[in-house]
Amino acid sequence: MHWSFNPTHWSISTRSLQVVAALGLVATLGLLITPKTFPLEGTPPFDAAERFVDSLMAQMTVEEKIGQMTLFTTDWEATGPTIRAGYREDIRQGRCGALFNSHTVAFTRELQRIAVEESRLKIPLLFGYDVIHGYKTIFPIPLAEAASWDLEAIERSARIAATEAAAAGLHWTFAPMVDISRDPRWGRVMEGAGEDTWWGSRVAEARVRGFQGNGLGQTDAVAACVKHYAAYGAPIAGREYGTVDMSERSFREYYLPPYAAAIRAGAATVMTSFNDYDGVPATGSHYLLTNVLRQEIGFSGFVVTDYTAINELVAHGVAQNEQEAGELALQAGVDMDMQGAVFQRFLKNSMEAGKVSLAQIDTAVRRILLLKYRLGLFENPYKYCHPEREKQLLLCAEHRAAARDMARKSIVLLKNEKKVLPLSRKARIALIGPLADNKSELIGSWSAAGNSNDCVSLLEGLRAASQGVVIHARGCALEGDDRRDFAQAVAAAKKADVVVVAVGEAAYMSGEAASRTELSLPGVQEALVETLAATGKPVVVVLMNGRPLAIPKVVERATAVVEAWWLGTEAGHALADVLFGEYNPSGKLPMTFPRSVGQVPIFYNEKNTGRPYDANSKWTSKYLDSPNSPLFPFGFGLSYTTFEYSAPTVSRRTFRPSDTLLVSVRVRNTGSPAGTEVVQLYLRDLVGSVTRPVRELKGIQRVHLQPGESRAVTFALTEADLRFYRRDMTFGSEPGEFDLFVGSSSAHGQSVRVELLP
Ligand code: BGC
Repeated sequence: MHWSFNPTHWSISTRSLQVVAALGLVATLGLLITPKTFPLEGTPPFDAAERFVDSLMAQMTVEEKIGQMTLFTTDWEATGPTIRAGYREDIRQGRCGALFNSHTVAFTRELQRIAVEESRLKIPLLFGYDVIHGYKTIFPIPLAEAASWDLEAIERSARIAATEAAAAGLHWTFAPMVDISRDPRWGRVMEGAGEDTWWGSRVAEARVRGFQGNGLGQTDAVAACVKHYAAYGAPIAGREYGTVDMSERSFREYYLPPYAAAIRAGAATVMTSFNDYDGVPATGSHYLLTNVLRQEIGFSGFVVTDYTAINELVAHGVAQNEQEAGELALQAGVDMDMQGAVFQRFLKNSMEAGKVSLAQIDTAVRRILLLKYRLGLFENPYKYCHPEREKQLLLCAEHRAAARDMARKSIVLLKNEKKVLPLSRKARIALIGPLADNKSELIGSWSAAGNSNDCVSLLEGLRAASQGVVIHARGCALEGDDRRDFAQAVAAAKKADVVVVAVGEAAYMSGEAASRTELSLPGVQEALVETLAATGKPVVVVLMNGRPLAIPKVVERATAVVEAWWLGTEAGHALADVLFGEYNPSGKLPMTFPRSVGQVPIFYNEKNTGRPYDANSKWTSKYLDSPNSPLFPFGFGLSYTTFEYSAPTVSRRTFRPSDTLLVSVRVRNTGSPAGTEVVQLYLRDLVGSVTRPVRELKGIQRVHLQPGESRAVTFALTEADLRFYRRDMTFGSEPGEFDLFVGSSSAHGQSVRVELLP
């Protein structure tokens, strides 16, 4: 993705050149630009775009330029989409070049018409929206999808989200969210891929590929927006919008790579974060937005703020007033102001006062117009507006089937005593709990245009698949201390062979502005599980939540525990598939589940310390009142069958930086049914110039094995996989010994020792 001038492209198509020349002329005349054929992707690429944009910018007033740097939200009411009167006028006057939360073909067409018919330069609007895990067909929340460890499925999910969003008039999604987090108190962990940097980077790339498809010129692609840059997932004590204070080493090693991976995968835009980092709010940080993002990572798209993050520089205490905040943000590297209207109100004054330069404004505008160009909006501003396509694609059978597939793959089996699962279809099931007959919570937070009425509840899913009886009782509400329905629930349990109890969080409890200090089940849900367990019936706990929970008692009482997160539109069907054994669960946790809030932050790739944990020695790194180990480790998840791992072997014990090292293990399905195992490769660098984690994930492979079948699983490692920020902060490897672990979770697997020679 380089937009620099490349003369070889010019020789490829003189016809394109003519079109460019014509466009320049048309732009000069200030007319709507609608040539029939115009190269969007491929040849000649962005040299033509730059010429086009330059000729357009030559016609623009400063106000119109600042308008392109201004993004406003429209509203949505029960009756449908609405827009504040002033915004229409802003579009007409060229004071606003982009809108978000505006969707549906009818609504976006109407607004686009104002821009391209009634504004002076007829520059098309850019429509953005938070399409995070589906547009109308809602897929599992991103954290759940990450638990599938299936990059193809994750990419397909984003592809479908983009296809639907584009069919509803949208050009741009505020996703993927790639913030690494080690703190489940932070509610936004539901939007990301969990705690691991390597996995988070792979998921980030897959999502960008999915959203942007075969190129932004296509009608089914939307531009991605990597967020929230940077380190937003590490606020102190997990408190939303809080300060981030970490070493530069940790930042670069654990938090930065997923943003860089998404950008290298071609993400068109980046969103700043609300937090400060090392004393400077990200939205005003020249270091983050220019030195690291542009100069180091090489990002060439545009940067949008997160909501009113420019205005918030005043509250952060780094700007006297909003005008100064705007100057700081522009100078730092912000190109577009979301909703705060700071650029719109003050930037011209700042320019006239000599605080910012026209060249700085031009740089931002050019980046924004280039994206509109790449999206093909100058060629056809209505290319996303096809009522037929919208009708045909949203929530179509194919998309629902993909959502069901993704949902089944996202489920993690955490416990299964006495093989209580899978259930017999003939079983008498008591389905209990506040989330048993619920639809409203299942699509989770950030569910775009998703309608919970389109969602399949667990009750519906079980009834559709059962050949026995499903007795339903709510038991209690999600919150509050009312236990009056416990008796009815117990009566239902007594009539059944097995109890399935669906408990968890309300959707609003995870997501933005949803930090929690307790990680237990809210209200009296834990008491409900306990009461049902006391009946002596086997109890299958189905968890629906957006973050790791600390629920050791629930796990102890339950016969089986199924982590179902929020699975989206097809939740009930997917859960029935797993509970009845139609699909053998294969998900693994992308975040550590703690025993208690006191263990948080908790993550698998910790350091050894000088006094590593020893249960029998007080003077080691530990708690007096809890083991160090989590409730469930990162990477953990059971299957209905069992897998056995051989000791890993390596192609060579010693290797040089130019060698590829092969690490193999034989995995056998030692039970039944057929199942998929996520085989994980971790390494430990035994001695370094700085302390290294006890384990680092370096690869995964999903293998599907029939009963009794075994297969060799091989990973290839090179010196590049061993690099880290050394003592002098250079990034590279160091010769020495490494232990390689291959296993079924971060807490499992045998190791083999290898040595990297200089
Ligand atoms: C969130 C962003 C989101 C934006 C627009 C903000 O409050 O932090 O993630 O993209 O709103 O909806």
